[in-house]
Amino acid sequence: MKRAFLTGVTGQDGAYLSRFLLSKGYEVHGLVRRSASSDVMDARLKWLGIADKVVLHDGNLTDLSSLIRVLQEVKPTEIYNLAAQSFVKSSWHQPLLTGTVTALGAANMLEAIRIVCPSTRFYQASSSEMFGLAQEKMQSEQTPFYPRSPYAAAKLYAHWMTVNYRESFGLHSSSGILFNHESPLRGIEFVTRKITDGVARIKLGLLTKLALGNLDAKRDWGHAQDYVRAMWLMLQQDKPDDYVIATGRTVSVREFCRIAFAYVQLKMEDHVSVDERFLRPAEVDVLLGNPAKAKEKLNWVAETTLEELIGEMVEADLERVRRNKHL
Ligand code: NAP
Ligand code: GDD
Repeated sequence: MKRAFLTGVTGQDGAYLSRFLLSKGYEVHGLVRRSASSDVMDARLKWLGIADKVVLHDGNLTDLSSLIRVLQEVKPTEIYNLAAQSFVKSSWHQPLLTGTVTALGAANMLEAIRIVCPSTRFYQASSSEMFGLAQEKMQSEQTPFYPRSPYAAAKLYAHWMTVNYRESFGLHSSSGILFNHESPLRGIEFVTRKITDGVARIKLGLLTKLALGNLDAKRDWGHAQDYVRAMWLMLQQDKPDDYVIATGRTVSVREFCRIAFAYVQLKMEDHVSVDERFLRPAEVDVLLGNPAKAKEKLNWVAETTLEELIGEMVEADLERVRRNKHL
């Protein structure tokens, strides 16, 4: 039986990847850190109706002993390291915590694998944020990195450790350089979900204005459901490697707003304002990925259009706001 172990199982990608792996017949195990709000900890897994099918293990990415213990218990065939302090803006407020979890946490995971189960396949959740001040118009596996935040610097360390453990110890460790991917399960602090939640509240008369930061930033946005399939495909390859996963289309935050407001027959100009509290000390102005290698080697392409993604997110938020549901 194939047995997967996920860190970050309670996050957006962890929930979608768990559902995907369960549909493929995997036994799915996940790491959860202790929380005072344990009743809502698995809200995303519950949302997808799979909370009772995923085996949860108490531990923390910063605690190597917990990783070693869980790997000894689970004996996974595949490991997906999705856990991170993943919100870029917070990484300036908590740079050391971000380094401890997002950078050293990955090193902990690699060390645990090397010690306990060196033949287990490993996926590292790398990020297009590593391209930062992008050195090429379309970013591929060959584009030089230029991190612009403590988060991106931490992810870069984790990325190179994944490459290094592959080259040093022969681990089957792959790094997915994923561009932004969203869904109805996206955290409310990220701009897409903040917008679709705001659109729903404005449409239902609970809000009139939505304050955002830099409307000119451009991102290559895809659907998380498509992207978790790419993670799995990477671990099905004979050889470990690094892959850019993206749609190949970039749009501004302003354009994302326009489409989301238009979905409910509203105009963004009537509702969106700019508040400098949401600006960042250093910005990543534009990201645009070149997914040619993923298409050629993994036969992977993004299946959901941006318009479909936004429609699904707005619908989910309308439903959530109407029913006053958590998430
Ligand atoms: P997310 O929703 O923020 O989930 C992060 C997960 O990490 C949560 O399950 C969180 O647990 C867990 N976590 C945080 N600190 C931890 C610790 N010390 N020990 C154990 N678990 C910890 O992120 P996501 O959007 O699913 O992204 C998944 C991964 O892909 C992240 O590494 C992210 O940086 C990376 N990535 C995401 C994107 C994107 O656009 N979504 C793009 C590129 C890369 P709690 O529930 O307890 O907070
Ligand atoms: N969060 C947020 N809130 N962002 C805003 C806002 C706002 O009110 N207004 C404008 N933005 C801009 C940000 O300045 C940024 O340029 C862009 O919207 C996207 O911000 P986020 O949604 O917070 O995502 P991110 O691109 O910084 O990071 C996400 O994608 C990375 C991959 O490129 C995260 O998921 C990272 O974990 C991931 O690695």
